[in-house]
Amino acid sequence: MSTRTARSSVPDLVLAAALGKRAEVLVVGLTSSPDGPEITLGDGIVDEDVLDEILESLIAVGASGKPEQLTRVPAPASLAVTYVLAVGLGSADKLDSEQIRKSSGAAARSLVGVKTAATTLSALDLAATAEGFALGAYSFTEFKSVKTAPAAEAAPLARVELLVTAPRTKDTKATLARSVAIAEAVAGAREFVNTPPSHLFPAEFAARAKALGVEAGLTVQILDEKALEKGGYGGIVGVGKGSSRPPRLVRLEYASKKRGARKVALVGKGITFDTGGISIKPAAGMENMTSDMGGAAAVITTVVLAAKLGLPVNVVAYVPMAENMPSATAQRPGDVLTQYGGTTIEVINTDAEGRLVLADAMVRAGEDKLDYLIDTATLTGAQMVALGTRTPGVMGTDEFRDRVASISQSVGENGWAMPLPEELRADLASKVADMANVTPHRWGGMLAAAHYLKEFVPEGVQWAHIDVAGPAYNTGGPWGYTGKGGTGVPVRTMIAVLEDIAVNG
Ligand code: BES
Ligand code: ZN
Ligand code: MN
Repeated sequence: MSTRTARSSVPDLVLAAALGKRAEVLVVGLTSSPDGPEITLGDGIVDEDVLDEILESLIAVGASGKPEQLTRVPAPASLAVTYVLAVGLGSADKLDSEQIRKSSGAAARSLVGVKTAATTLSALDLAATAEGFALGAYSFTEFKSVKTAPAAEAAPLARVELLVTAPRTKDTKATLARSVAIAEAVAGAREFVNTPPSHLFPAEFAARAKALGVEAGLTVQILDEKALEKGGYGGIVGVGKGSSRPPRLVRLEYASKKRGARKVALVGKGITFDTGGISIKPAAGMENMTSDMGGAAAVITTVVLAAKLGLPVNVVAYVPMAENMPSATAQRPGDVLTQYGGTTIEVINTDAEGRLVLADAMVRAGEDKLDYLIDTATLTGAQMVALGTRTPGVMGTDEFRDRVASISQSVGENGWAMPLPEELRADLASKVADMANVTPHRWGGMLAAAHYLKEFVPEGVQWAHIDVAGPAYNTGGPWGYTGKGGTGVPVRTMIAVLEDIAVNG
């Protein structure tokens, strides 16, 4: 078995005060206004006259500055690049970090075959530009053999010179280092999600998670199928029963040096493939269920990131991993299992497996003394019915739920707070066990799943549940800094929440 760790496919990001000799392309931002487009720029990076010349060319070919519009013009003779790429930023008074991230991402995606690009967008917002370029330049080609591998002329952008007025100050360097670390964590999560289910099964996933964790100085423990059985993890065992590739529960702990720091548990759904089990899914689109470990991927790379950033907060990740398969050994609709901690469950639908593995992990997490618990999962198709493919649903205890949703908005992952209507809870009643794993109807499916999880939230712990069924995996075309396949959502939300807890408790 290979223990290759997730590769971080992030371009080199370097700071510079002026355009050097290596860059082939200069990327500038173009805002729109009633008087025509304008190049936005911090002072003193590129000559005023040269900018006027570039702007004139851009206007001549119809550039307007509308969001993410890409326009190429030949570079003025005085600039040592072959061409200038202008990317639209929209109206200047509406400009925010997310627009800069998106426009940087769109620029980076278009620069295939370019080795080094320089940009002045960084003078506007270094962190957003760095993240946008790094995320936009990501590509996954591990399974392209020589027959179809992209030629050098189509290789993703390898190096970005971020032009800023003061590249050598401590603050500037720290800002870039943080952005690079975040981009690497997002890329790591994407890598896990993009790795096909043939190659990423529970034991392999656990081994790769361990390798990443150990490298970052985390304490890592793995429970195998025997330990899970013995320990009473009925949900993980039940879901894993149908597969020849047995389940795992991984625990990764980052202990901060700060005394009295808060403790946060992250729990992520790690179904390496979800056929539905005996309640089997239709064939159309089933291949997308390779993304059913998106929550797990995000929590693994987030706890590693917290350690790399040295956050003054204790973080423990619990990652249940299983493959949901139909077979002669699979659990049946009507089976009763016992979740870790003793709650008995009537499994009405084997396709509602995420909540079964999460519940075990959440109860186990409660044995650590927690202040907060965040769980995240590609949990319900109903998430997409309710909010579409790009908006995570955030449920939980009122205050923390709203805090997580608002932080998610601020980083551009755009989580939205959703309610847990009281009357839905009763619909999880079972005649034979403490609870059923589904309601007998399809209304409010995302909320019903959250109600199920709520039963397993440790007493007195603030909780947020982030359903990323759609947002974790992009099956449509690329947009902004988001390419096809795994997106790494909600890594940037979770790290921002951890940073917020580190500051505000
Ligand atoms: N992994 C799926 C949810 C999902 C669907 C994620 C589409 C990404 C895209 C989950 O395990 C599932 O099958 N949920 C069921 C729940 C139902 C049986 C109550 C669903 O959403 O249909
Ligand atoms: Zn699933
Ligand atoms: Mn399922």
